[in-house]
Amino acid sequence: SITRFPLIPVRGVPLMNYIANNWDSIWDFCPDPSDLLIATYPKAGTTWTQEIVDLLLHNGDAEACKRAPTPVRSPFLEIFSPPPIPSGLDLLEKMDPPRVIKTHLPFQLVPPGFWENKCKAIYVARNAKDNLVSYYYFDLMNQTQPEPGPFGGYIHKFMQGQLSWGSWYDHVKGYWLEREKRNILYLFYEDMKENPRREVERIMKYLDLSVSDEVISQIVELTSFKNMKENPMANYSCVPSPVFDQSISPFMRKGEVGDWKNHFTAEQSKLFDEDYEKQMKDVDIPFRTLI
Ligand code: PPS
Repeated sequence: SITRFPLIPVRGVPLMNYIANNWDSIWDFCPDPSDLLIATYPKAGTTWTQEIVDLLLHNGDAEACKRAPTPVRSPFLEIFSPPPIPSGLDLLEKMDPPRVIKTHLPFQLVPPGFWENKCKAIYVARNAKDNLVSYYYFDLMNQTQPEPGPFGGYIHKFMQGQLSWGSWYDHVKGYWLEREKRNILYLFYEDMKENPRREVERIMKYLDLSVSDEVISQIVELTSFKNMKENPMANYSCVPSPVFDQSISPFMRKGEVGDWKNHFTAEQSKLFDEDYEKQMKDVDIPFRTLI
């Protein structure tokens, strides 16, 4: 049966208990220098980026990228899912490098082997309010995540860093401050929406790949929200319904910028903005969208 797992702090970051209980094996994970890390706060555009990268690595071959569902093609490092979903570490052990590895861990909890081996890493950040709304719907439908409760209370938990994987503010700042030293490609969901072609090309260059203009166009088309929503190998229909109840909210929900306006009241928005100013005052991350 499916349980909504309680959160246990790991170095102050609340993680689902099955991650916390397996922490040592995650921390000790030793990647190959050829492995690529895709890091995000949950719901910031991970799956989209995973699909773009897989297509780039396969020169836009749509069929090749339907060989398996996203979490099998590109394992989720820290996940220890309830059966029948295998753990990220088990999947990785059976794969040959170069591997594309997903994580939601904040920078300070990423296994140090990634930086010791100078692995490439792509970070995707999404504006806080849309990220929150997307996470709220995900927590409603993912029956292993803690209950989100009412939306107003959820906003407070988000602001206080009490959700699974901790504080959004610390997350986006942590990778931002390390991006130059660690050669991390730092992307924004809003930029990807605005000009997907430009961002696909940035990823291609970062990975030292070269694909034709025609293939880039094909990748942009294959990774549109509509196409990914209909792609059974990208829309998480692979996760059994007692775990992801997509009748509550589909994994590919809306895929838009600014949906928070349909959820925050004027008062909630004001309170959030005031707190945001305080939490983000020490960095200058060019988020273009709060409004
Ligand atoms: S997870 O569970 O953390 O891996 O989720 P993640 O993939 O990071 O985020 C899911 C949100 O990204 C949206 N999405 C997309 N938007 C635009 N284009 C494409 N191709 C795309 N693919 C996924 C998805 O719909 C979730 O956002 P919301 O706002 O809830 O729709």
